[in-house]
Amino acid sequence: MKNTLIAPSVLSADFGNLQRDIEMINSSEADWFHVDIMDGVFVPNLSFGIPVVEAITRHAKKTIDVHLMIVNPDPYIKTFAQLGANNLTVHYETCTHLHRTLQAIKAEGMKAGIALNPHTNVELLEDIINDTDLVCLMSVNPGFGGQSFIERTYDKIRKLKEIIVRNGASTLIEIDGGVSDKNAAQLVEAGADVLVAGNYVFKAEDPVKTVAHLKKITSNQ
Ligand code: DX5
Ligand code: ZN
Repeated sequence: MKNTLIAPSVLSADFGNLQRDIEMINSSEADWFHVDIMDGVFVPNLSFGIPVVEAITRHAKKTIDVHLMIVNPDPYIKTFAQLGANNLTVHYETCTHLHRTLQAIKAEGMKAGIALNPHTNVELLEDIINDTDLVCLMSVNPGFGGQSFIERTYDKIRKLKEIIVRNGASTLIEIDGGVSDKNAAQLVEAGADVLVAGNYVFKAEDPVKTVAHLKKITSNQ
């Protein structure tokens, strides 16, 4: 039986009640906390910075999955390790020396991830896949929660899965943006291992129940 990992995105939490929302996810069947960092340069939005991440990691009792949407991630690798990040994902589009960046992330004891914008071809990962713990396929243009899912993502998942299998890698495929019960099962069927969900979880009437529902419909295949 497949165990699909569910990663609620803290970007959609109520920041006035951050501790409450973190504890709510602690008490749910969610597997990871997805933490989005935006710099206003790589993406047209700002999210939150180090003091807020520190507050999240102080209360969170699950894997911390940090998604950096920033132009120059290298100087911050150590900082996120010290803050308690378990996974650190950088964007392919921001790293000139991606191999070196991934090694630096692993040297700090974290899992190393690469995120791809919707327009970036997964075939570009052929020569780096064996060094990558996680690929985050953006199924919206990064920058905001609550956008609509880009259908082309299914093809990208299938192509990426082929690359992973062909290279004998054990890289996880994470899908980020517009995930809900409308597409979750189909995403897993195409090869997704981790589903990020922001608005669908936090804006639900009962987020704990919503996580359980996502877990149920994606883990029985
Ligand atoms: C978008 C972020 C996502 C976002 C997902 O730039 O990387 O993680 O929070 O939110 P939803 O699930 O609402 O699309
Ligand atoms: Zn994200």
